[in-house]
Amino acid sequence: MTRMGCKTEQWYEEKARNLPWRETSDPYLIWVSEIILQQTRVAQGLPFYYNFITKFPSVKSLAEASEDEVLKIWQGLGYYSRARNMMKAAQIILKEYKGSFPDSIEELKKIPGIGNYTAAAIGSFAFNIRIPAIDGNVRRVASRLYGLHEPIGTPNSDKKIEALLLNEMQPCPPALFNQAMMEIGATVCKPANPECTQCPYEDVCVARIKNLQKILPVKSVKKAPREVYLDYLFINAEGFTWLQKRTTDSIWKGLYEFPNIQNTKNSKDVNPFQDWFVNNEDTQMHKPFTIKHQLTHQTIFATLWQFSCKEANIVEEKIQDKLRLKLSEIHAFPAHRLMLKFLEKVI
Ligand code: ADE
Repeated sequence: MTRMGCKTEQWYEEKARNLPWRETSDPYLIWVSEIILQQTRVAQGLPFYYNFITKFPSVKSLAEASEDEVLKIWQGLGYYSRARNMMKAAQIILKEYKGSFPDSIEELKKIPGIGNYTAAAIGSFAFNIRIPAIDGNVRRVASRLYGLHEPIGTPNSDKKIEALLLNEMQPCPPALFNQAMMEIGATVCKPANPECTQCPYEDVCVARIKNLQKILPVKSVKKAPREVYLDYLFINAEGFTWLQKRTTDSIWKGLYEFPNIQNTKNSKDVNPFQDWFVNNEDTQMHKPFTIKHQLTHQTIFATLWQFSCKEANIVEEKIQDKLRLKLSEIHAFPAHRLMLKFLEKVI
């Protein structure tokens, strides 16, 4: 039965998508879904969610997994620090909370990778805590609903939105209200061409009434992505090649890739791997090619240099700390999307 004053309840029950994490109050499953859905659309995230909970059905199984196993499941999803943080988080929950998620916002936020949004999502969906969960979609809905003209995404603006939504959600079950806000943002109150006639807030929404849907939300100014130039080395030595694991504290930490060096500019004319080979006459160099790979904060120009030769022709000290693999074995190792693009082209 719809509660008096809870505007979204009937709408949600009739219109919302059935999604697996909406059928559970298990904080582990909710946490997994929320981390996957950060920066990721539902359609893209769903298969990753199923794979993840099949492979790691509990906090304990995740805490005891190897980093390679977890990154392999995450392969292609991007923002790999999410997966690395999940491992750390699972280990902490197992050790310090006896394997059960804490049931307060304050304690949840002490766990790596759990910020305001994720704590509020887990808190409301799993523990019925009355707190708005504010992500990008919800910011857009709130900005339009209340006619907020200040740029969204700042701590100040989030505080205002939190106060307004806390008031709005009073008559509603917290889990339902937060799910409904996300659903409205994802399916109705879309960035372009919102379908206002489908919205439960149609008659009270300031943007709808004043025709401000194209103006709101006002976005914060973002820094332009910086350009990064990388040179990668693919050697085919009679069916063998070499990979290295990224160990520096970067977005790709823990992933496997061809040996590479960072350059200040695109070095397409100068072979940066010349000194890897004993005798350049016995080395066949293929035409290098460059892929432009766009990440949120970086535009990467990655050039792949390809060589065929006998293994004896490679300078030993260059490869001694690298992983020697058959070409057919590479796919077992977790890799980023740029590396997968390279593999598609050369293998
Ligand atoms: N995006 C983030 N959290 C979500 C959820 N619980 N349901 C649908 N989309 C989401």
